[in-house]
Amino acid sequence: MTIYEIEGGKPMAGELTAQGAKNSALVLLSAALLAKDVTVLKNCPEIRDVAAQLEILQSLGCVCSREGSTVAVDATGVSSTEVPQELMRQMRSSVTLLGALLGRCGTGSIHTPGGCAIGARPIDYHLQAFADMGVVIEKEGDHLSAAMRQRKDSIVMLPFPSVGATENVMLLAARLPCTTVLSGAAREPEIVDLAKLLNQMGAVVMGAGTDTVTVRGSNSLNGAQHTVLPDRIAAATDLCAAAVTGGSLTLRSVAVRHMGAAIEALIRSGCEIRSEEGAVFLKAPKRLSGMGILRTMPYPGFPTDLQAPFVTLAATAEGDSVMVENMFENRYQHVPQLHRMGADISVSGRVALVRGRSLHGGQVEAEDLRGGAALLLAGLGAEGNTKVHDAQHCIERGYERITERWNSIGASIRVQSLA
Ligand code: EPZ
Repeated sequence: MTIYEIEGGKPMAGELTAQGAKNSALVLLSAALLAKDVTVLKNCPEIRDVAAQLEILQSLGCVCSREGSTVAVDATGVSSTEVPQELMRQMRSSVTLLGALLGRCGTGSIHTPGGCAIGARPIDYHLQAFADMGVVIEKEGDHLSAAMRQRKDSIVMLPFPSVGATENVMLLAARLPCTTVLSGAAREPEIVDLAKLLNQMGAVVMGAGTDTVTVRGSNSLNGAQHTVLPDRIAAATDLCAAAVTGGSLTLRSVAVRHMGAAIEALIRSGCEIRSEEGAVFLKAPKRLSGMGILRTMPYPGFPTDLQAPFVTLAATAEGDSVMVENMFENRYQHVPQLHRMGADISVSGRVALVRGRSLHGGQVEAEDLRGGAALLLAGLGAEGNTKVHDAQHCIERGYERITERWNSIGASIRVQSLA
């Protein structure tokens, strides 16, 4: 258990550098399995989810090492195609290992990841897409074995632009000596990052970032070196931290073009924002304003991963905001916690009506990664002391040295780790 103790009401001011993207790094690590070779990822964030993914790769026979922010995966000696159950349970996103194992070895087994804090999160789109690509899948309880039966050109259509299903199709397709056309693909920047690595490894991926991705694969891919793109969600969360304290921030090493929806919402809240290539500057008003209606949508819409942080911003603002969560059915778990700090938020189904007011410190519990970050933000913006209890180490899953970085620009967060 980690407890974050925050002394609120201190304006943050200064300069930070953004971390590498968690959701890109995780799938790029899956991609490393595709080559009988070494893949090197630079700017790979040092966070719990990446450590868990590396542990899984090692259990499959890869040799992994880290030096600073550079991670090397030698996948020459892959010796197992079964993702261990307890490691799979630790991290749902390891589901992209299935596409990579199928591509590399022709077979792969996982335990279905099941629901998690934010919703049921089925993987039916992944499995249907694999079936369309010639994979036979057997299910026994929550154990799932997949085997490549027929390598053939395929057309795959996703009913919804699922990020993970798009990635899984691309991973498998990259290692097949055929052409796969995927329509209804997700358009997130992480998909484009994956395409860049796959292209460097010797596949030909076209159309990444649009809703139709074509992959001409190869049964022999080489290792490659790639720099993980900046984390647009963690970067926007840094901006929210400065905003909720009425502070200012210069954030470097960001991909501003990926942050349009978040920046627009911050401008609506009354923040002044300027940007130039690779950097964004924010100056917050003394009190934020209500942001109107925000709706989470697939990229380039407002990201579901920023819903919780922006609900906190809205809760401290002057005026009302409405949040509509369209992506996950159980992603308002931070709301009852924010109530403990005096927030006025009513949730009905997908919609949260947030009436802004001043928050006070309180004792709250983090139940998921982004909800945990939202509670830290609430602590920063509240009057008095807040303790965020993080029993599952949710926050460390995705944010690199968050307290050290925020404290360096004026926050006051003490971390207590209990065994
Ligand atoms: C990715 O999850 C991210 N995770 C999530 O970030 C992010 O919230 C999500 O995309 C949406 O942007 C990683 O990249 C590791 P989806 P993913 O498949 O791929 C439904 C974070 O906090 N669906 O795009 O699992 C699904 O239930 C995490 O960093 C099916 O019904 O998300 C959801 O409603 C949390 N069947 C919607 O589609 C399927 O087979 C979008 O999910 C697949 C998805």
